[in-house]
Amino acid sequence: MQIPEYVTNARLRNWVMKMVDLCNPDAVHWCTGTDAEYNHLTAQMVESGTFIRLNPEKRPNSFLARSDPSDVARVEDRTFICSLSKQDAGPTNNWLHPREMKEKLNELFHGCMRGRTMYVIPFSMGPLGSPIAHIGVQLSDSPYVAVSMKIMTRMGREVYDVLGDNRDFVPCMHSVGMPLAPGQKDVPWPCNRETKYIVHFPEERAIWSYGSGYGGNALLGKKCFALRIASALARDEGWLAEHMLILGVEKQPQGEKTYVAAAFPSACGKTNFAMLIPPPALQQDGWKVTTVGDDIAWIKPGDDGKLYAINPEAGMFGVAPGTSEKSNPNAMATIRANTIFTNVALTDDGDVWWEGMTKTPPAHLIDWTGQDWTPHSERKAAHANARFTAPIVQCPSIDPAFDDPRGVPVEAFIFGGRRSTTVPLVYQAFNWNYGVYAAATMGSEMTAAAAGKLGEVRRDPFAMLPFAGYHMGDYFNHWLNFGRQLVNPPRIFCVNWFRRDAQGNFVWHGFGENMRILKWIVERARGRSTSIESPIGWMPRYEDLDWRGLEDFSREQFHDIMSIDRAEWQKELLAHEELFMTLYDRLPKEMLYLRELMVSSLWRSPEHWGDIPAH
Ligand code: GTP
Ligand code: SPV
Ligand code: MN
Repeated sequence: MQIPEYVTNARLRNWVMKMVDLCNPDAVHWCTGTDAEYNHLTAQMVESGTFIRLNPEKRPNSFLARSDPSDVARVEDRTFICSLSKQDAGPTNNWLHPREMKEKLNELFHGCMRGRTMYVIPFSMGPLGSPIAHIGVQLSDSPYVAVSMKIMTRMGREVYDVLGDNRDFVPCMHSVGMPLAPGQKDVPWPCNRETKYIVHFPEERAIWSYGSGYGGNALLGKKCFALRIASALARDEGWLAEHMLILGVEKQPQGEKTYVAAAFPSACGKTNFAMLIPPPALQQDGWKVTTVGDDIAWIKPGDDGKLYAINPEAGMFGVAPGTSEKSNPNAMATIRANTIFTNVALTDDGDVWWEGMTKTPPAHLIDWTGQDWTPHSERKAAHANARFTAPIVQCPSIDPAFDDPRGVPVEAFIFGGRRSTTVPLVYQAFNWNYGVYAAATMGSEMTAAAAGKLGEVRRDPFAMLPFAGYHMGDYFNHWLNFGRQLVNPPRIFCVNWFRRDAQGNFVWHGFGENMRILKWIVERARGRSTSIESPIGWMPRYEDLDWRGLEDFSREQFHDIMSIDRAEWQKELLAHEELFMTLYDRLPKEMLYLRELMVSSLWRSPEHWGDIPAH
């Protein structure tokens, strides 16, 4: 094998040679990240049947891929944190001793790339050379992964300049787990239907992924590196790696700008919130939202005592269903060209469609399984976890500081789950510790982003349950410690866009209307705007929110999404206790005390909060 002479990093050269020996690919392709390379690889995938080129007049330079029906989402039950001690991985992660896991992986990867090309994919998470950024190199036998990594990360030859002769990188090993025998015909979406392993070695800072080509299982810069490995790095080095979007709120003519980071679990609205367009009345009043990131934030304390956040990614891997000109025009503009669509439906004129894109579905489609579809079909046309992969700089609301190596100053954190009942539209935690408690005990109904039981409420602390690379109890403690070091910590808020009425309909309009809540949050973070004290935190009254243009949203409706029901919250606190039981060996004592305080404040009359006069 010929290693390009510009690859001078000795550890990298040795590692690639070793992995080529292990995996036995037919060829090795050193990715340079150029457009020519991208065009070559996409054309090759059109030829092989992995990609369908979309109508260039409707969707220039864009492609559709249909995955194997067994490979459509992250597989949490096949995801492992292999720290040396089981206690360090904690009860919420799958664990196997690194020695045992490596034996298994060595068997699986032995000859796993036969008949395929190994792509060497160098990438930077974060602006090249930023003090907050880190380098990874992924080896993969999937050209789909190679082109996706060009969109999702800063991928290319320049990375080797940052890496130099001896700088560190995270080795990311990936195979679809389907070697080809001589003469064996390939399939459009190779994967291993029986065996999947998504494995992390946090001490060694290495990732091994086998058997899947989809999303977070395969694009290893994303959840595997930027969250699971990075969270362990962040704990050791005193920063935060979070499942958070980053947005800027601009208010003209004052020119005030406030950056906010928000953690919602998978498929609970990060991409939508990150690029929301305010309702016309608030736009006219000078409010505007800009986008820094839609899924992951790396946050480090600056010398000035503020927190600075970067988006380590360069692309969006966004949920397609539900995205429309009405719900998210910025996302629709972002995916107008240069986009890879996976598991959406194909229209007769070579464009894409999914549930919720238009009110009336087209009369005929090819669905995500490649079969004919009409509005009478039982099946969904697009898979519920169908996604688009697009460069984030194509987003019309992209923030001017997106590429700033220093990051942006964060002044508020928001946490939000998907809850049909119990949790109000918005409240502010009394202080940092209360905020950590609220984030730690967050519940959310499961979505299609992961294989599992749809709709079931589970505790998803910090929206990080599937992404924390170490013990969740230690993770809470890291947040508490982190806050103690901040002179003026950002304010912490909780939201729930997803409360439903007795008929099962969403009560809150959501999407752009969320600006009304965001405005209150920004003003609260700046010490303005009034509220009342509820048992769980500070809440806005009806008159504390800006209703211009939505006057028909009544006080009664507001009450329905803001009320805190004592009986429901008592049940909620029992669920918190259940979580704490599983984490008891490393649970910070603050969590127990705060829970007791919540129990006591729930006994305060009245039965429902939401109509209390302001102080
Ligand atoms: P991941 O990429 O999995 O991390 O998801 P995400 O958190 O970025 O979620 P996304 O913004 O893609 O939204 C997921 C689903 O929730 C889509 O079907 C959206 O249409 C829907 N959604 C987003 N925001 C809102 C909202 O404010 N209200 C309602 N009712 N639905 C929303
Ligand atoms: C999520 O599940 O939170 C995602 C999609 O952002 S994936 O990249 O598959 O993890
Ligand atoms: Mn996500």
